[in-house]
Amino acid sequence: MAKNAPSFICQNCGATFGRWQGKCESCGEWNTIAEEGAAADRAIPGRSARKGRVFALEPLTGETHEAPRMPSGVPEFDRVTGGGFVRGSVLLMAGDPGIGKSTLLIQAAAALAKTGHRAIYISGEEAVAQVRLRAERLGLGTAPVELAAETSVEDIIATMREGKPPRLIVIDSIQTMWTDAVESAPGTVTQVRGSAQALIRFAKRSGAAVILVGHVTKDGQIAGPRVVEHMVDAVLSFEGDGAHQFRILRAVKNRFGPTDEIGVFEMTGAGLREVANPSELFLSERDLGSPGTVVFAGIEGTRPLLVEIQALVAPTSLGTPRRSVVGWDASRLSMVLAVLEAHCGVKLGGHDVYLNVAGGLRIQEPAADLAAAAALVSSLAGASLPPEAVYFGEVSLSGAVRPVAQSAARMKEAAKLGFTRAYAPEVRENGTDSALSITTIGNLTDLVADIAASGKRARGPVRLARQDG
Ligand code: TYD
Ligand code: MG
Repeated sequence: MAKNAPSFICQNCGATFGRWQGKCESCGEWNTIAEEGAAADRAIPGRSARKGRVFALEPLTGETHEAPRMPSGVPEFDRVTGGGFVRGSVLLMAGDPGIGKSTLLIQAAAALAKTGHRAIYISGEEAVAQVRLRAERLGLGTAPVELAAETSVEDIIATMREGKPPRLIVIDSIQTMWTDAVESAPGTVTQVRGSAQALIRFAKRSGAAVILVGHVTKDGQIAGPRVVEHMVDAVLSFEGDGAHQFRILRAVKNRFGPTDEIGVFEMTGAGLREVANPSELFLSERDLGSPGTVVFAGIEGTRPLLVEIQALVAPTSLGTPRRSVVGWDASRLSMVLAVLEAHCGVKLGGHDVYLNVAGGLRIQEPAADLAAAAALVSSLAGASLPPEAVYFGEVSLSGAVRPVAQSAARMKEAAKLGFTRAYAPEVRENGTDSALSITTIGNLTDLVADIAASGKRARGPVRLARQDG
């Protein structure tokens, strides 16, 4: 490529191309490629190649020390990060616009500042007065957080070097920052990457914990935070949907801690409130005794979490029946449907299927297979499931239900919330003489038979398969 040839950069993943094209070959997104002036990564003119410096190599054994941590004062936040902010590290907080990232971070900064550490909040999106107004609304007006509305990375770093070294710097958001070091316009991938690089270098050198806020946008107009994901030490994703008050904080990447813990918050009129017992929250609007609803005893990280799964199976008027799933993996749903058809004689080809995880939660465990299958069969048969029971187990392609990890913890949580029965595969763990009575489900056919029998008892014969009609 000629030295000053324009380069075309995907605003979603950062891949570089020599010419414009509609689809990014690297990440598969459409209309995300934009021209960004001269190539950003080219050599700096006037600087000749430097002779390398010899450095010492170290053995693997030697002195180590734990990453120095500062608890944030928000326990749910600390649970996800693995114990608090790590000094000299950079954390990316990603999420949809309006989900509550700024609210959470001003709360965390205020909590840290109250313990005597210097915390700084730089907003590139809102004026100081707006941030102040929000803090007042959250009852944090007196917290000694230092504010500024700035977007120049060089100015920010110069300011941070003055006075007592800051312990926490929140940059809200990385997409509004710009650095003199690169030529592209603010908001482009090159600028986002350049600004992040400068801030990461500053964090390592100064020992401050830096949090970068990154908006996730579907359209390619603003550079997605994905380009900084591999540069930072941890990526937290803040999730939730507009219809619910619940917000889930999840670690996507964490160099200093676990990646499977979640933090649960509730958005209230006075900011984000921590939810200490999420199971109670996710079951609070439960539809007791209606067909198609089931309680799944899940695990998120080390924490058991009971959630309601709802299914609706209805005759279709379409040539290709609809399969719609919210909060669970669509391919797992297809698998469970196929196993029900192939091994249990449950015919779903003429039905639309909707599956929904209540409360806006997203389940990733295969242990939800059995609960999903129970909800589907229950809806199809019009037979409600026992309201005092929880379900868990992984379904294999043969229809066998496989044991899952941490059965004891799942049942303990269920017992705590007043459940008395578990439908589960054979429990192999020791010490599971829990308060729940267990109905062992070794195969999905057992489950179908059980639901059909209970439906028959309740309201006469139930037809699951269509072959007899
Ligand atoms: P915000 O933190 O600005 O979101 P983000 O920084 O991720 O874009 O939160 C915005 C939403 O949160 C807004 O729709 C209003 C709501 N909200 C509350 O419900 N209660 C509150 O106390 C605050 C501050 C915000
Ligand atoms: Mg914001």
